[in-house]
Amino acid sequence: MNVGIDVLALATGHYVLDLRSLAAVRGADPQKYTLGLGQDFMSVPSPQEDVVTMGVEAGLRALERISDPTTIRLVLFATESSIDQSKSAGIYIHHFLKLAPSCRVVELKQACYSATAALQLAVAFVRQNPSDKVLIIASDIARYGLNTSGEPTQGCGAVAFVVSSSPRLLSLEKTTGVYARHIMDFWRPNGQDEACVNGRYSAVAYLDALGKVWEEFQHNGGVSFDRIDFICYHTPFTRMAEKAFVRHLEITQSTKKTLAHLSTLLTPALIYSRCLGNCYTASLYVSLLSLLENTAGDLSGARLGFFSYGSGCVAEFFTGILSSGYRDVLFFEAHAQAIAQRLLLTVPDYEAFYTQLSSPVFAPDSCYQTGPLRFLGIKNYQRHYDFAR
Ligand code: COA
Repeated sequence: MNVGIDVLALATGHYVLDLRSLAAVRGADPQKYTLGLGQDFMSVPSPQEDVVTMGVEAGLRALERISDPTTIRLVLFATESSIDQSKSAGIYIHHFLKLAPSCRVVELKQACYSATAALQLAVAFVRQNPSDKVLIIASDIARYGLNTSGEPTQGCGAVAFVVSSSPRLLSLEKTTGVYARHIMDFWRPNGQDEACVNGRYSAVAYLDALGKVWEEFQHNGGVSFDRIDFICYHTPFTRMAEKAFVRHLEITQSTKKTLAHLSTLLTPALIYSRCLGNCYTASLYVSLLSLLENTAGDLSGARLGFFSYGSGCVAEFFTGILSSGYRDVLFFEAHAQAIAQRLLLTVPDYEAFYTQLSSPVFAPDSCYQTGPLRFLGIKNYQRHYDFAR
């Protein structure tokens, strides 16, 4: 039985900051951001956006391609920007997407890895229940603090994917390589809305984990590097994915793929990340969409590899085969519009948005640009939302 991703949709914040303007205000060389980190822009959520509003926007888009949403029997919400210690953000998604009551809903957390955990759990669920579908929402807002070294690697975004037994996008192959180890490279203690990060160590840990999962994948009988056509790497910033590709070449000692292939094999997968910034759990799947929507030819039948890394840390390497006709379920135009129509912020406006997101006020009338759902603020400890009129 083929099980995998049937539909994959993207949403992001409705404002954007040009990192060259941030560099000017922070007294940094803009090339440190654009070349050193490989980032040009970052999406910024307005005070009326959060992981739920972005998740609903991506979810509504994904459901446009699902003829019978009552077949969705499990909703998995993957995030490290959680809005509640108890209630799953998935319940808001289930409500606003009007899904059937007979449905399991839960939130998953393990830094940027949890969307991959959700995908593997969903695949196992669908293998057991082939007529059911799973909706996964991976939604995050990356926040490191104003004027910190992590600041230019912020961003936000959500992906929604439907997993089914007749996947129109990608069939997952069974062999995977996983690796888990307790390290303190990145974490966010209770009560803090910004991550604690040991940034340079996290980059070392990421590359180390790539070596470990690759070894495990090979040990488990996975295909060779040369039999994988394209690889999507977790992308906290695009230079990190490029470094992963280089490390992968070294580990595998490939004779077929060389550094010269970087621009054809990897660059299309990094186009969206370059202008959205880090989307944490969503970022690996943003990379997949970027590859598919920025490659002119038809890649049907190609084998894709995926390297997922979540600080702390858990990592996984797995592969999948692109379905024939996958281009018919993509959202080329809607995604291009979502990226192009973001409103450009000045640095002081970005800083004001950033600060307001930490302590939201209840403001039902303010009208920032948002997707279909607006976050109105918190009243009586409850989050309130409204569909934009
Ligand atoms: N022109 C071109 N490149 C420049 C430059 C300039 N003027 N100035 C610096 N650079 C390069 C550096 O050489 C470095 O590249 P290299 O890693 O290939 O050597 C890169 O830009 C970053 O510079 P660095 O001094 O290392 O930046 P930093 O210490 O201020 O911050 C991070 C970088 C990644 C540590 C920081 O952004 C961070 O903590 N991010 C969040 C954590 C994260 O994303 N981790 C990833 C793994 S999950």
